[in-house]
Amino acid sequence: MTMEKLRGDMTAFVNSLYEEERKVLVFGEGSVGAPVMMIGEAPGEQESLQGRPFVGKAGKNLDAFLEQAGMDRRELYVTNTVKFRPTKRSAAGRTVNRPPTQEEIRLFLPWLLKEIELVGPRCVITLGNVPLKALIGHGSVIGDLHGQLLDWNGRKLFPMYHPASVIYNPSLKEVYRRDIERFAAWSRGMSAE
Ligand code: URA
Repeated sequence: MTMEKLRGDMTAFVNSLYEEERKVLVFGEGSVGAPVMMIGEAPGEQESLQGRPFVGKAGKNLDAFLEQAGMDRRELYVTNTVKFRPTKRSAAGRTVNRPPTQEEIRLFLPWLLKEIELVGPRCVITLGNVPLKALIGHGSVIGDLHGQLLDWNGRKLFPMYHPASVIYNPSLKEVYRRDIERFAAWSRGMSAE
């Protein structure tokens, strides 16, 4: 299986999902063999328009934190748990984001696991509760596990808050900065080995 084949298969899968609404696939971005893979929740409006993960407001936050920690997004592989933008109609009749349903997360999990195998990262960073629960189970919560390096399927897993949570809860900014610095220190130690 190559990344191109996975992208083609996933495009067909996404196209088959909703008859009444054509969804856009937002595939992962980065190189196969990247040592670190970051997994978000699902694309938002900008991501769906540009067909790239984390290019909207949450993505700008993510880039700022990465830069502070001396990490470069080009060294990472970045993707989402659910690979289209989940939407609903607001009371005012506008199309707005909604969280992915459990069913959508369940449908995308086998694809995500294939993507992880293909990229083959040493460490997976989950952003927020959605990818964390998808990968390690429903009992896990980000508030308890963020900033810890866990063992997962022969790889390391490092849970972090979602970069959008800092927009809604500025007190998380310091926690976020500490977590990513802890990760950057570990990752520098690994690459020096
Ligand atoms: N939030 C996510 O979880 N993923 C994106 O790609 C953008 C915002």
